[in-house]
Amino acid sequence: MSNLNSPIGIFDSGLGGLSILSEIHKQLPNEKLIYFADSANAPYGEKTEQEIVNLSIKNTQFLINNSCKIIVIACNTATTNAIHVLREKFDIPFVGIEPAIKPATFQSLSKKIGVLATKGTLSSKLFYKNASLLKQETEIIEVVGRGIVEAIENNCTNTKDFNNLLKKQLEIFIKNEIDYLVLGCSHYSFITKNIEKIMGENVKIIDSGFAVAKQTNKILDLTNLRKKTNHNLKIDIYTNKTSIDALKNVLHYLNLNINDINVY
Ligand code: DGL
Repeated sequence: MSNLNSPIGIFDSGLGGLSILSEIHKQLPNEKLIYFADSANAPYGEKTEQEIVNLSIKNTQFLINNSCKIIVIACNTATTNAIHVLREKFDIPFVGIEPAIKPATFQSLSKKIGVLATKGTLSSKLFYKNASLLKQETEIIEVVGRGIVEAIENNCTNTKDFNNLLKKQLEIFIKNEIDYLVLGCSHYSFITKNIEKIMGENVKIIDSGFAVAKQTNKILDLTNLRKKTNHNLKIDIYTNKTSIDALKNVLHYLNLNINDINVY
């Protein structure tokens, strides 16, 4: 059973959702956080809808077994394919993450935006529905990220080969002169600098980490689940395969101190 002092549970197919965890930790420093990285099954983006649903159910069950009071799906692929099933199946509040195409559309002056996301996200019914509404006023150029999640999981994004691979995938955005690029996968936050370097300073990059943390904050209030006591608790990270070097690299990028974290 969970109560006010129970943890917030967060999951992703791997390390990507730690970009969301760090935003939640900044906005809710008092809350205990439990993170599950399902790296053994990454990437989710190439799986079928049913496989993504099944893995999302398993991850949610794991976090509920660890007494979590709310679940943050820190994965666009899992949110867009499975959040409706999770909400039906489990009696617990969920917060999801989706590509921020709406704010990008509103802010775009050229009315041409790009979205880089997984195949699973871009082919989901939820993304299709949301994008269709916006496409009446803005051109949305969609690109499926290839090999990026794997490179982040394997800690090899600082190589020439990786940057060449990335450049090839971003070329169509440059050709189409977009002014906003939406990062539609939580892993991609960790290569924001690589992307900025390729896209140049005229293209603004948007990801959803801050908005997801803000929404989590709001839901805790609405459901009266905000923690009342003030303890500085360690963050628990559970993983079934993650490379420790990649994890350390990501924590360093996020300015999270490894001494404040238990890794299981
Ligand atoms: N980080 C995930 C997302 O936001 C999924 C990446 C993957 O496993 O393909 O979509």
